Amino acid sequence: GRSYSVSSAFDFNSSLFPLSSSGPGYTSLGTPGTPNFDSGAQSLERNKSLTYLNGLSLVVGLIIGSGIFSSPASVNSNAGSPGAALIVWIVSGMLAWTGAASYAELGGAIPLNGGAQVYLSKIFGQWAGFLFTWCTVVVLKPGSAAIIAIIFGEYLVRAVIGADAVDASPWINKGVALLGLIAVTALNCVSTKLGTRSADVFMFFKFAALLAITIAGIIVAITGAAYNKEALSTAWKTTNWFEGTSMSSSQWAVALYAGLWAYDGWDNTNFVVGEMKNPSRDLPKVIHTALPVVIVAYILANLSYFFVLPPETINTSNTVAVAFGSIVLGPIGSLLLALAVSGSCFGGLNATTFTAGRLVYSAGKEGYLPEIFGTVGFSDSSQRMRLPRRGQKARRFAGFIADEQGFFYTPIYAMALNAALTTIYIIIGDFTTLTTFYGVASYLFYFAPVVGLIVLRVKEPELERPYKCWLITPIIFCCVSLFLLSRAIFAKPFQALIVFAFIAVGFPLFWWRVGSRGRSGRKSEQGEGWWKFWKRWGRR
Ligand code: ARG
Repeated sequence: GRSYSVSSAFDFNSSLFPLSSSGPGYTSLGTPGTPNFDSGAQSLERNKSLTYLNGLSLVVGLIIGSGIFSSPASVNSNAGSPGAALIVWIVSGMLAWTGAASYAELGGAIPLNGGAQVYLSKIFGQWAGFLFTWCTVVVLKPGSAAIIAIIFGEYLVRAVIGADAVDASPWINKGVALLGLIAVTALNCVSTKLGTRSADVFMFFKFAALLAITIAGIIVAITGAAYNKEALSTAWKTTNWFEGTSMSSSQWAVALYAGLWAYDGWDNTNFVVGEMKNPSRDLPKVIHTALPVVIVAYILANLSYFFVLPPETINTSNTVAVAFGSIVLGPIGSLLLALAVSGSCFGGLNATTFTAGRLVYSAGKEGYLPEIFGTVGFSDSSQRMRLPRRGQKARRFAGFIADEQGFFYTPIYAMALNAALTTIYIIIGDFTTLTTFYGVASYLFYFAPVVGLIVLRVKEPELERPYKCWLITPIIFCCVSLFLLSRAIFAKPFQALIVFAFIAVGFPLFWWRVGSRGRSGRKSEQGEGWWKFWKRWGRR
């Protein structure tokens, strides 16, 4: 059958190559690629170095973030009962799994970096890929960064200043969230290496926090009476697990969105398929290990919450892990967990800022955005950091933070745009609003490529598919996504409207920025000429 070759017009990451840090593999590992249509000579895809374990740690590291420490309130209060909440966690996990399995088939059939962007362009035409890029730049990336920043702020304020401050005014949290965003943006502007190094450090926190919760939960479950009995939830033993289960499908949808947030990021291995050594074997393997592992970890963490916390606390607290810590270990416990979780969120914020910078940068390079966003700050060599000649310590320090290109050889304008948009979302939104908002937007764009998978099976049955998922998988994913999207329109019409408005704005923008260059997904004669003209003269 036919197959899409890797050396196609879709050459991902090449324009980003100068930004890579010198550390082998990490940059390509942690950074979803984005499209670059002028196939450059230096392609990360030629450097096929990612193994099964790399893929696994990438996707697990991206999925586990803020959600498992903050979504339970939204899941529980909307599902109505602990039993229903667990069902929501299972269903949203399965949904993520079916989505990821569908993406694995797409990734095998179209083994290029870029994920949804490239599938949409290949299957529906470049306009679809453009809309995805547009919405990712204006809604998905800054929206998700804002959610993580807000959780970071809430946890840090709770740890350092105390619960009263959190409840007194949301602006204290938001202020800290903004500070976190500024810190992360500055870090990633100063040097790429600094950004990726801190990602490694903060990875530790999320595992520490999740592990601590699960182990504490197991101990409590076994010993039962080891802690303050009054404080322990008795719901586990006495009340009906399904008492109070919500009957409203809109509430279930909101609960599912909260759960899906915690599982979000399952598509991220698809961004680097082109760099995998053996994508057709390893991509499905990564998906079918990562998702079950995360689902089990989340169920265990939730059971721990139920064992330890009274339902009212779980229902209302955005910082359920702090409440958990304080019951299990007192003030020290809450402080430790709050620090661990804010560290985990800071790491997530860092990772997402890092990739957002690259995404905006290559959208600028593509001409999707004004050219300035596709440039690297202070690329004039005189501005680069000079490694100090004297002083062992200073030298080692410089080598630790500076990439070989030196300080500020980073997409600072792209970073600034992303930070500005994220700031807006932090100011106007709160956790629950933003997760629903993000859910609607992201599931629209997860839905489309999976529909595309079905289209591709019908239109191109001969296409080589090293991994073929059961047809029922994409069908289930599409049906549940459709339910979610339609419910969101009823549950949160205003947010849904905003999402659709953003997408609608993308159409004239596509016409303006790309024009006839790629309406059919190919470069037309006329479009090419127009594009060349525009490239040469239009932007001077
Ligand atoms: N699941 C992550 C969390 O719980 C959020 C992932 C955000 N999405 C992304 N593509 N980085 O925080």
